[in-house]
Amino acid sequence: MKSCSWTVRPRLTTVGATLAAAMATMAVLTEPAAAQVSIWSGVYTEAQSKRGQTLYSGACSQCHGPKLNGAAQSDQPPSPAIARAGFLRKWEGKTVAELFKYVREMMPTDNPGTLSDQQAIDSITYMFAVSEIPAGDKDLPPDPKVLEGVVIHAQKK
Ligand code: HEC
Repeated sequence: MKSCSWTVRPRLTTVGATLAAAMATMAVLTEPAAAQVSIWSGVYTEAQSKRGQTLYSGACSQCHGPKLNGAAQSDQPPSPAIARAGFLRKWEGKTVAELFKYVREMMPTDNPGTLSDQQAIDSITYMFAVSEIPAGDKDLPPDPKVLEGVVIHAQKK
């Protein structure tokens, strides 16, 4: 039995060390992510949404309609509403980073990938303004890292 405890003990120590290491890793992984805020907490400026409106009139309105309700011009494909509760519900719980990526890469459908990062985020803040989401005193930056911390909710939160 003596030889047995001699062989077992070092192995237990190794297991203990491995467990401790694993638990340390888990503690890091389960650390809460950076605080998230809601789109309803004043995350863009009125000036920014005005820039978005100008862009929208030229690049989006013919398909999504002057009221952003999806009422496209008759020579355009049917397009969804991109403001207000119905639209926001589709994106409920997602971050603005995802919406930004979508608009940046997919819109306008007849010329995708042509918006600058700034134009894409400005147009999104115009969608927020039309949805009666209140503005604040800082621009929403076209920075995916920041946008990952801003969550879309259909209802004020
Ligand atoms: C040529 C027509 C056209 C133009 C121009 C256009 N879109 Fe779209 N857009 C569409 C269509 C069609 C869809 C739906 C695509 C799908 O479901 O695959 C869409 C989808 C979207 C969505 C997602 C809607 C949802 O229900 O999740 C957003 C947001 C959006 N567009 C924003 C914009 C913005 C901002 C612009 C201007 C920069 C723009 N679009 C210009 C046709 C257009």
